[in-house]
Amino acid sequence: MQKDLIRLLRDPILIPSEKQNLLSEIAAQAESLGMSCYVVGGFVRDLLLGQPINDLDIVVEGDAVKLGKSLVEKFGGKLTTHYKFHTAIWAIPSMFNVERSTLDLITARTETYSRPGALPTVTPSTIEDDLRRRDFTINAMAIRLDGDHFGELLDPLNGQDDLEKKIVRVLHPRSFIDDPTRIFRAVRYEQRYSFILHPSSFILINPESLTIIQALSGERIRHEFDLIFEEGNSHQMIVRLGELDVFKWIHPELPMFNSGHSDFLEMDTGLDIPASRTTMGYMLWLMDLSEAAILSIARRLSFSSDLTHSVWGASQLKKSLPFLVNSSPSIWVSALEKLPLLSIYAAYLVSGEKALLDYLSFWRHVKPRTTGDDLKARGLESGPRYGEILTRLRAAWLDGEVNSEKEEKELLNRLL
Ligand code: CTP
Repeated sequence: MQKDLIRLLRDPILIPSEKQNLLSEIAAQAESLGMSCYVVGGFVRDLLLGQPINDLDIVVEGDAVKLGKSLVEKFGGKLTTHYKFHTAIWAIPSMFNVERSTLDLITARTETYSRPGALPTVTPSTIEDDLRRRDFTINAMAIRLDGDHFGELLDPLNGQDDLEKKIVRVLHPRSFIDDPTRIFRAVRYEQRYSFILHPSSFILINPESLTIIQALSGERIRHEFDLIFEEGNSHQMIVRLGELDVFKWIHPELPMFNSGHSDFLEMDTGLDIPASRTTMGYMLWLMDLSEAAILSIARRLSFSSDLTHSVWGASQLKKSLPFLVNSSPSIWVSALEKLPLLSIYAAYLVSGEKALLDYLSFWRHVKPRTTGDDLKARGLESGPRYGEILTRLRAAWLDGEVNSEKEEKELLNRLL
């Protein structure tokens, strides 16, 4: 086993060589301080699945803050310390040439929950205890990195077995009660890897654990949805959470995800507009709700004002489309101008209304040649007439009333 793992740890397709180099420097530093050093969680899970690894979570038996300080001394970079949690975040110096910029250094620990859904209280402990505090068996494995132990797998909860059987399984019956965000995480892993939530874990998603969701802050729940919308098959994840009856504990008006909208999550706009999978996900999910429901859900999930504006905008636009159909381009432009571009794109995806695409592709870029300075040079007194004239000229271009600079000048002469 150790040999197989060493092969995986040295595979540049799974772990780029720059990252391998970083890991071995950290392990050597930990060893020099007499600490055993491990990679844990998603790293081990994805490595054993033969998938390229994203996350680097380092756990040491010893003081992670002390390790962090010695890394800074040797290699530079900045350290942010959280003494209460015995963790440190190291801003990795550029010499390592890795694309991620920070690394979490964690002291092996046990966690206790003062009440269900609360953030845990942390006490330093062994790696075994650290694995036992985790969410699922497939996330409760560690690979040791220091010295001759390089490539040793620690798997006290048979995570490897569950990985092979494609099972997501909690470590103890109170897991979802301690931390109901694990319900979202279970669904994420289940759908991401096409695994099955083990029946003994499935029955733990019941009113006793679901009710604790009500005690979670909006930020914590929204973070889980944000992570879901970043996944390839977020639609199935949202649907699955709906099937598990999760929504009503978050907000009574949270709807099921409209399956007809699912393909749109994968859309590449191909347009020059700022894209965000997460924002698009919330818009497609919530746009058919009433204005009051959208604003109330936005409050519960602590949406940023930008996100609220985007979802609200997409919803308002979709509802006003029947009144805008067959309008002139200038009317479309005045209706769309104040809305976020991504909201307009979302409304286009669900309605297929071509005017919305015309706006995003061409109309929004149409401007008259005349500027405010030109109007000033022609002696126009400052005041609202500036805006009115420029808007009128723009409308004339948009609606085909003028087609050249000369025609625009003629119209301007008539207006002044
Ligand atoms: N963890 C946990 N309970 C949580 C969140 C995290 O036990 N509520 C543990 C798991 O062992 C997890 C590790 O912390 O593997 C790291 O968490 P995170 O970075 O969120 O997950 P990853 O395993 O890296 O998975 P992903 O690929 O989804 O990021």
